[in-house]
Amino acid sequence: MHRFQRKGGKLYAEGVSLNGLADRFGTPLYVYSAGTISDHYRGLRQALRAVDPLICYSVKANSNLAILSLLARLGSGFDVVSGGELERVQQAGGQSAKCVFAGVGKTDEEIELGLRYGVKAFHVESEEEMDRIAMVAGRKARRRAPIALRVNPDIAAGGHAKITTGTYANKFGIPFEEVVSIYRRAGKDRRLCLRGVQMHIGSQITQGAPFRAAVRKMIPLVKQLKKEHGLEYFDIGGGVGIVYEDALASGRQGWWKTRQAQKAIPLSEYADSVVPLLKDLKMKILLEPGRFLVGNAGVLVTEVLYRKRTGRKNFVIVDAGMNDLLRPALYEAYHQIEPVGSPRKGTVSTDVVGPVCESGDVFCHDRGISPVDRGDRLAILSAGAYGFSMSSNYNTRPRPAEILVQGNRARVIRTREKVADLWRGEKKS
Ligand code: LLP
Repeated sequence: MHRFQRKGGKLYAEGVSLNGLADRFGTPLYVYSAGTISDHYRGLRQALRAVDPLICYSVKANSNLAILSLLARLGSGFDVVSGGELERVQQAGGQSAKCVFAGVGKTDEEIELGLRYGVKAFHVESEEEMDRIAMVAGRKARRRAPIALRVNPDIAAGGHAKITTGTYANKFGIPFEEVVSIYRRAGKDRRLCLRGVQMHIGSQITQGAPFRAAVRKMIPLVKQLKKEHGLEYFDIGGGVGIVYEDALASGRQGWWKTRQAQKAIPLSEYADSVVPLLKDLKMKILLEPGRFLVGNAGVLVTEVLYRKRTGRKNFVIVDAGMNDLLRPALYEAYHQIEPVGSPRKGTVSTDVVGPVCESGDVFCHDRGISPVDRGDRLAILSAGAYGFSMSSNYNTRPRPAEILVQGNRARVIRTREKVADLWRGEKKS
């Protein structure tokens, strides 16, 4: 479900015309729908109500302060992976007691920051890191550091090799077989306080089976750890996949309620895969969704600069590039591309490409899209997650402005960067 639709042929975010926004704020432009984010947050809570989960939004998906603040107001906690993300959550008014601090490479400074802000727990990714957290806690804060181990259940899942995290070929988590003995050692350390246990198996998972398999494998371990150490929570991570193909049509149909639209996982299937197993644990359940909450809630609006034909191909060159939205270049990720104005008749096989000097700066290859002219706008859909947050200034390109729409109102939640912003901190001589 999302709130982007055509009205009189033209694309709207909730009640606001995307062409109107592009006229006012220029392109490339990220536009988010607040209503879609709230719908997804509430939908997920509702689907898992039997276990009354604490949703800890994964900040890396989209870390704009307005998005964090919106989620904080809905009651969300946060999953952060750096001191920077933790500072963002503070800045946005999020509660650190609902923050979990993940990541394989936390520095001493980041550990100190987490202790100072009073995070719910550090999610520990290795034995060495656990010892370091204990040391910093003993040295600085003189209070116990709350921890949960991230268990690697060795289950393959995820839409792409680069976003699979839960197997022994990945750098994440602590091997399943070693977990019990490490908890026992941690349990004797007075500088540590054992709060929970965590896993995260991958991203853009569109079937219930991997979630079910991982939770099922974890349950006996979690029960044992609860008994031995009185753990409060089991965090099953994020990874719930969204619709990328046919995203516009499936918005109307409510893709999360039915599988008919596309290969994304309906919420009921996700819930049915995990809730029955989790219910009798009688522990707090944490979730760490990123993409699910914000992915379909954002589009990248871009303007056509030129058209060009080679002997073999039609190219449409737009003013957004891989620096603005990296996913197609990095993962060959599919994002639906739609004209912002009324679609013209027919389709033309087209490569939509950006201006960056890389052959990989391509949003789609040989895709049938509605014919376009210079000055037309295109919307690259499902760009709310890992869009702006993975953007860069490659080719000294200022990053886009970001707009948040709520009903008929639109507000700028990040102004467009200026070229002079990009050399701040540099020294000529
Ligand atoms: N928890 C942990 C520990 C994670 O590492 C991640 C994502 C999440 C939660 C949230 O996962 P989600 O619900 O969004 O699937 N840049 C890639 C995705 C990388 C995901 C990294 N970790 C992409 O654009 O597809």
